[in-house]
Amino acid sequence: MKDESILRKEILERVKEVYNLRKEKEEFIPGKTRIHYSGRVFDEKEMMAVVDSVLDFWLTLGPKGKEFCDKLKEYLGIKNCLVVNSGSSANLVSIGALCSPNIDNPIKKGEEVITTAMAFPTTVAPIIQNSLIPVFVDIEEDTYNIDASKIENAISKKTRAIVLTHMLGNPAEMDKIMAIAKKYNLYVVEDTCDALDSKYDGKHCGTFGDISTFSFYPAHHITMGEGGAVCTNSTELYRNAVSLRDWGRACFCQTGEANPNGACGHRFDFKFEGFPEGYDHKYVHSNIGYNLKPLDIQCSMGIEQLEKLTEFTKRRRYNFKILYDCLKKYEDRLILPKSLPKSDPAWFAFPLTVRENAKFTKRDFVIYLENKLIETRSLFAGNILKHPGYKNIECKISGEMKYSDQVLHNTFFIGVYPGIDNEKLDYMVKCLKDFLSQY
Ligand SMILES: Cc1ncc(COP(=O)(O)O)c(C=O)c1O
Repeated sequence: MKDESILRKEILERVKEVYNLRKEKEEFIPGKTRIHYSGRVFDEKEMMAVVDSVLDFWLTLGPKGKEFCDKLKEYLGIKNCLVVNSGSSANLVSIGALCSPNIDNPIKKGEEVITTAMAFPTTVAPIIQNSLIPVFVDIEEDTYNIDASKIENAISKKTRAIVLTHMLGNPAEMDKIMAIAKKYNLYVVEDTCDALDSKYDGKHCGTFGDISTFSFYPAHHITMGEGGAVCTNSTELYRNAVSLRDWGRACFCQTGEANPNGACGHRFDFKFEGFPEGYDHKYVHSNIGYNLKPLDIQCSMGIEQLEKLTEFTKRRRYNFKILYDCLKKYEDRLILPKSLPKSDPAWFAFPLTVRENAKFTKRDFVIYLENKLIETRSLFAGNILKHPGYKNIECKISGEMKYSDQVLHNTFFIGVYPGIDNEKLDYMVKCLKDFLSQY
């Protein structure tokens, strides 16, 4: 009879063979092979890790989740990390934790949160879902980030937080924003879903504010298929985020925790009002929660992806630079993306805004590129307030939404992800030049 470890080794060797077979068949034919705006980049290691985890058959969140969180925490230099099943869930849990009645100074129903209308929808949605009032300020034209100079004007007695996005991996002006937050005692939530490995003033995005969120959907800097994370230096916010993710329960013990007394060692030692002495606190609910956990299988993929992150970032920056150098001479027709002097972006994509006076429209440019099989995407919601689901929300609009509207009309992005190699990049550069030199 075969030993399980031998069988497992054989299975994993076969998985590697499958990967290699597929890899051998991959080819790029300019104009015939689609160049995605983003996508998963992996090798046999991710496939083997996932199959290995399936063979463990742990299934629910467990040891791989813990290993992934430990590694991400160390990479970012932050105290706490929890995994969730998407970046959207990470945003929901983060806003929920700031509203939890268990924290010292929770945000209450009807209080205000400053954010941008040019956003990914599920950055704004949790503000509304938690009965808070979004107060929209405009973005900057070329960084696509919240215009920090407009934040103070939007502050009222009810303002409690700033929710910002490091748009497309481009760090927001964190020193100015953190100074305003300190002055007015506001929480800061960093949506870092597009900005893993981006830095501002030498410090990782997602480590400035009170709480930050990440997405591991395949389009993002690393992937788990679907997945996300919440990071914070606050133990209080971390515990409530875990509680909200895990049905709202009062304890922070992991599912399938080996210690029968839970992570805290006091599972049966508490007295809750109205409950019998020593009631199992795994089944006491201190928050109105959800279940937003990913599977351990997903986390096994994330662990391998984290190993590749530094290389991925290098390629993202290289691809961005080549595209930037190519497009620089067309600045009279295009607004090129700008990053701040203190920023070191790990670009998610390359945004382009067609100038009003150009002799072509965004639509002309996008259709040309798509016909050349170079994928394009709109910059998220453009102005979220124009979308049917958001038209009648209770909100405040602070000043004009000039550049958010401009994004809706004139902006799109193309890829810089590590799956774009030199051959693809050369083809992209050629096509961009061919189109732009006509005008
Ligand atoms: C800025 C931003 N926030 C949140 C999300 C939501 O992440 P997910 O797709 O994992 O729910 C995305 C997704 O692309 C995003 O770009």
